[in-house]
Amino acid sequence: MSTALDAAPFEIAGKTRVLGILAHPTDHVKAPPGINRIARERAKDAVMVPFNVPPDGLGSVVNAFRSILTFNGSIVTVPHKQAILAFCDEVTPQARAVGAANVIRREPDGRIVGAQLDGIGFIRGLYHQGIELEGRSVHLSGAGGAASAIAFALGEAKVARLTLNNRSRDKLVAIRAKLQEMFPAVDVAIGTIDPRGHDIVVNGTTLGMRPADPLPIDETGLTADMVVAEVIMEPEITPLLAFAQTVGCKIHLGRHMLDHQLQLMADFLGL
Ligand SMILES: NC(=O)c1ccc[n+]([C@@H]2O[C@H](COP(=O)([O-])OP(=O)(O)OC[C@H]3O[C@@H](n4cnc5c(N)ncnc54)[C@H](OP(=O)(O)O)[C@@H]3O)[C@@H](O)[C@H]2O)c1
Repeated sequence: MSTALDAAPFEIAGKTRVLGILAHPTDHVKAPPGINRIARERAKDAVMVPFNVPPDGLGSVVNAFRSILTFNGSIVTVPHKQAILAFCDEVTPQARAVGAANVIRREPDGRIVGAQLDGIGFIRGLYHQGIELEGRSVHLSGAGGAASAIAFALGEAKVARLTLNNRSRDKLVAIRAKLQEMFPAVDVAIGTIDPRGHDIVVNGTTLGMRPADPLPIDETGLTADMVVAEVIMEPEITPLLAFAQTVGCKIHLGRHMLDHQLQLMADFLGL
């Protein structure tokens, strides 16, 4: 269907706001077309471009951003998500808790603010599909960037009970301690791969990206009343989701997390 937006080609001009995506390499970044589409939908004169910056150049690039008056901010991805915190003047509580930011904004005075929207994007995706979180029990696998962001967002969403599972158990001890400090009302436990007894089961690991991967959980613990959610976007139906469908579970795709995160990033970047 063609719209008025299609009829008016976008041109970069002197007032165009510049947004970036900081990565190394940038060949496979997915966000620019999505953010540029959102800018057109919101009728904003702004464009996102890739900045392929090796780790040793990150500090000087962020310092240069402070002096670029047409610059709104940048998405931050691999390998800069953790390192970027050291170059921010201010960091949101979510980014501080996770120890990583995935977006930075330049304030009018040149200060750089870092935020972490992975977890909030995931939660928004669930809400949008009609899946409530307050008072519910969640089994979460993983302790990397995505899973820890989701864990803190689940705390904010007031789940009643959160069970953490990961191959490397030491990471879970630290995440649990921080969750208990920030969300004392949430019952946080370190569990096993068995998801029995939970309302919502989340895979926050990379298991499922490669065909030979084992499932992240003991699939015999799934029951039809559960929601099974993924962070993995490719393949869209992971072996875990395929199995969950055979059990009769409601499934939730990884792409919902990205879709909602792009909208949140666009808001944060002033679009
Ligand atoms: N949908 C979205 O918007 C979105 C956003 C961000 C990320 N993601 C996806 O989320 C996934 C995780 O990303 P991430 O940034 O969190 O990665 P990460 O920081 O590298 O964490 C990887 C996690 O997977 C676990 N893992 C990896 N290989 C394993 C194996 N062979 N056996 C058991 N566990 C294993 C790791 O366990 P250990 O701690 O033991 O190493 C860790 O918990 C990726 O698929 C990524 O594409 C999606």
